[in-house]
Amino acid sequence: MANMGASLAIIPTSPEVIRNRDSHYPYRFDSYFYYLTGFKEPESVLVLLGGDQPKSILFCRDKDIEREIWDGFRYGADAAREQFGFDEAYSINELDTVVLKLLANQPKLYFSLGESAVWDTRVTGWLNTLRSQARTGVSVPDDISDIRKLVDEMRLYKSPFEQEIMRQSANIAAAAHNRAMQFAKPNMMEYEVEAEFLHEFYRKGAQAPAYTSIVAGGANACTLHYNANNCVLNAGDLLLIDAGCELDGYASDITRTFPVNGKFSGAQKDVYELVLASQLAAIAKVNTSNHWNAPHEAALDVLIQGFIDLKLCKGSKEAVLESGDYRQFYMHRTGHWLGLDVHDAGEYKYPKSISSELKSQSDNWRALEPGMTLTVEPGCYIRPADNVPEAFWNIGIRIEDDVLVTQDGCEVLTAKAVKSVADIEVLMNA
Ligand code: GLY
Ligand code: MN
Ligand code: MN
Repeated sequence: MANMGASLAIIPTSPEVIRNRDSHYPYRFDSYFYYLTGFKEPESVLVLLGGDQPKSILFCRDKDIEREIWDGFRYGADAAREQFGFDEAYSINELDTVVLKLLANQPKLYFSLGESAVWDTRVTGWLNTLRSQARTGVSVPDDISDIRKLVDEMRLYKSPFEQEIMRQSANIAAAAHNRAMQFAKPNMMEYEVEAEFLHEFYRKGAQAPAYTSIVAGGANACTLHYNANNCVLNAGDLLLIDAGCELDGYASDITRTFPVNGKFSGAQKDVYELVLASQLAAIAKVNTSNHWNAPHEAALDVLIQGFIDLKLCKGSKEAVLESGDYRQFYMHRTGHWLGLDVHDAGEYKYPKSISSELKSQSDNWRALEPGMTLTVEPGCYIRPADNVPEAFWNIGIRIEDDVLVTQDGCEVLTAKAVKSVADIEVLMNA
């Protein structure tokens, strides 16, 4: 509200979505709404009044004993105001009336235009209603700004409270990866291993997977977003698993890759050690002396040298970087912000609104600062090709950890997920 100035912000949560007939998808609140409210019920809207007398106002479902018998507890406006600390709260049925009063004569409206056609229509309807009252002296906001721009900057820096939830989310996902390593055996189906993840997530209190788990045996690992998870796991193949959970709104995002039969082959080990070395080099760059892109640059540097050493790429390191030949084997970036969304809010370069001494750093990539959380996830994906030695065909490896930038370096939140060749083989054969 302090950042808004004289204005009104309207922030609806997500709608419930029907899966088929009268069954719904599991409900997930809108991340911006949740960040600002902590309130998880659907059919809720937050209205913030900026300026001299800021005010937070929640609109939510009424208490309804009849509906609660069927669908469960709902707060109702009075209890929500008291327990969540809003200045005011009203029934969602009063939204039109109250918002029209609040919006009249505001110089500026904050709203996420384009996020939802339904809300776009409703909000433009309010504006038109006010316009039709122009002759009574009512003025309409002539400035509409995206509230996400303001909140993104806040979401990028995780508070100690958020950091602690992310630590727990990471611990649950790490335990699930270790469980999978102990569980997976040749001739199992990929979905059997996926089930172990869901089991571990839910029994530890996570509310959902943070995204659809990728459980990719053998060649499937070279399909970056593979999630059919319906193939048999063959002895001699690697298994790449990208899976994380959502705990109290916050995502973890871990990838581990291990041999289905518990022992890396020579070629698998060569590529694994290379990806691991690139990941460790990238993590070493996660500190406040560096900008966002430094870990990616460090990972690329190690990977490209490795591709040359393994005879996957030809020429000098500089030439392979320049030509982009490495993209045959490494075609994605090394990470993303992590938080309420698995690919979290926040600009990767300095937004125009921010002036900072750090802004002069390379190419305007924003500096890493304490409280930021990101993933570090280099990989190598080798599809069969004429220019590739056959021993490497269908090896797909990614190693992904979640990292918190701290005052004096970084904290690897997912450190409990076993990662070295020796530790993986010991755990799998214990
Ligand atoms: N699991 C999504 C990602 O790694 O970005
Ligand atoms: Mn990721
Ligand atoms: Mn991932």
